[in-house]
Amino acid sequence: MSFWNRRKSLESVSARQSHSALRPTLGWLHLISLGIGGIVGTGIYTLIGVGAGLAGPAVIISFVVAGLVCACAALAYTEMSTMMPMAGSAYTYSYVALGELPAWFVGWTLILEYTVVCSVVAVGWSGYASGFIQALGIGVPDALLAGPAAGGVINVPAIVIALAVAGLLALGSRESATVNLILVFVKLVALATFVALAIPAFDAGNFEPFAPHGFGATEIEGAKYGMMGAAAVIFFAFYGFDAVSTAAEEAKDPGRDLKIGIIGSMIACTFIYMVVATAAIGGSRTDALAASGEPLAMVLRNLDHPVAAKFIGLAAIIALPTVIMAFMYGQSRIFFVMARDGLLPQRLSVVNEKSGTPALMTMVTGVIVAIIAGFLPLQRIAEVANAGTLVAFIAVAVCMLVLRKQAPNAPRPFRTPAYTIVAWAAIVGCAYLFVSLPGVTKLTFVIWNAIGIVVYFVYARYQSALARA
Ligand code: ALA
Repeated sequence: MSFWNRRKSLESVSARQSHSALRPTLGWLHLISLGIGGIVGTGIYTLIGVGAGLAGPAVIISFVVAGLVCACAALAYTEMSTMMPMAGSAYTYSYVALGELPAWFVGWTLILEYTVVCSVVAVGWSGYASGFIQALGIGVPDALLAGPAAGGVINVPAIVIALAVAGLLALGSRESATVNLILVFVKLVALATFVALAIPAFDAGNFEPFAPHGFGATEIEGAKYGMMGAAAVIFFAFYGFDAVSTAAEEAKDPGRDLKIGIIGSMIACTFIYMVVATAAIGGSRTDALAASGEPLAMVLRNLDHPVAAKFIGLAAIIALPTVIMAFMYGQSRIFFVMARDGLLPQRLSVVNEKSGTPALMTMVTGVIVAIIAGFLPLQRIAEVANAGTLVAFIAVAVCMLVLRKQAPNAPRPFRTPAYTIVAWAAIVGCAYLFVSLPGVTKLTFVIWNAIGIVVYFVYARYQSALARA
């Protein structure tokens, strides 16, 4: 079979595999909390400051734009994941709807996304950890608390947390659904506390001038300023609901639970973000938000709430690692599924007998995540993660359109309403945000995928399970 025609059949991925190693134990509450656990992280806790620096108070509009684009993509994800409740997520949907080569491209992109997201969250975590260490009066040289672009030499806290999470995963300590539920609660209580204390100090004057850098995305010294430039960064805050779709094989009732999990977590987070962003800007000038590595804690300190500021810092320190865990685990599943399909070496997904996890691959991922987090600046790496995610979202929306044509009568536990409009809104919106990313980010993405295409033609094309069959 020519590689152009290699596709998985819909039947092969739509029925629950009786031999799947993953057991269906998760209900809708677990899935909503998995979604919120994956979504609420460095985006709202830290990148809100970066966005405020790029757009000024108009970052509020950037949140709305990024949220709408993500909501459309989330609907497409819901339709696809309930139709094909398999661990491979966007990679699997592309294998069915578009064929092996596009699926490889999406899988290779997801590998970049998942790895870099972990680094971004590690750097965001480090901002709060460093602030907390300093607030306790422990003297650690600044050179060890940030990477070169942020005025330091090496970001030791970011390296430590990346390796620690990888170590825990490799040892097989998957965070239980119950622990996740508790940590989600901690994150949300911290954000609610922030809002409750910042809103009474709301200063409408902070919203002037509203859009100092205008609407579009203007590149200045490698950063894109303006509302859309900020939206392309803030987009980071909204994804993570795709983690729910990678848990599809473990959902008790995928049709109902995935639907509630993905859409419910998106709606909840969009609402929370709008309120937090309004409170943050009402409570501080945007240039101060932009200059801080822990903007939410900084706002509360400046409003004379030192204890609450420590609490926010502590909540971020305790709860943000779960985002790293969710994405590192997602990474291992993507590897697992691609290796199962023969596109990556089986050795990469060999599960360690004692820990029940792909220990070697997890540690290798952890080291790469740590190196990126130790030396590269937050904004740059967040943009790279976004590039990968935007492309994966476009692929999922395209899959939805293609399958509606190819298999109009296939069972769909969830049907996206006005699907053509939603799919095109996701495709055009994601493409626009992708274009709004800085040139160097797009170049990084292209280089990564050029390497991927070479690997496909040299290795994966011949090793593919479909080719061998
Ligand atoms: N949305 C996740 C975060 O903000 C990736 O950390």
